[in-house]
Amino acid sequence: MTIRINGTEIAAPDDPRVSLVDLLREQLHLTGTKIGCNQGACGACTVLLDGERVLACLTLAVQADGRSVTTIEGLSSDAGLHPLQSAFIEHDGFQCGYCTPGQICSAVAMLREAADGAPSYVTGDLAGHASLSSEEIRERMSGNLCRCGAHNGIVEAILEVAREDAP
Ligand code: FES
Ligand code: FES
Repeated sequence: MTIRINGTEIAAPDDPRVSLVDLLREQLHLTGTKIGCNQGACGACTVLLDGERVLACLTLAVQADGRSVTTIEGLSSDAGLHPLQSAFIEHDGFQCGYCTPGQICSAVAMLREAADGAPSYVTGDLAGHASLSSEEIRERMSGNLCRCGAHNGIVEAILEVAREDAP
């Protein structure tokens, strides 16, 4: 059993009880992914599994067998930071930074969900694609909490990237 993590194949743990977040942090030392609540309530542990956002504290590592995991460490490249990483810096989308990796991974997947036409609770017209307003972004990112109160900067950063990606 192997898991592709940030482009590198690694062996899945023998112990099926190991969570994905513990595999990342404790065994692979990819400590960008954070643990806040460890029970699915805060979003600090959000990573991408085959491009979709998942809570790594509620995901067993063996569930990622044969699949591709991207963490905050895997979003940047030799060409530079991911546009969301740059936008978070530009808009002061963090204070202590603890929630930031989860916020950014979540936002990467959220922008793709919205581009694919997935509605949110606050989407009014279900017939077309929702344009990503501040209200839409707050709703779609509501699973990622920031205890520092950097939400305004976070929303501004995501809005900027959403506007750049808009067709
Ligand atoms: S640590 Fe996973 S949701 Fe809080
Ligand atoms: S920047 Fe501190 S928890 Fe969000």
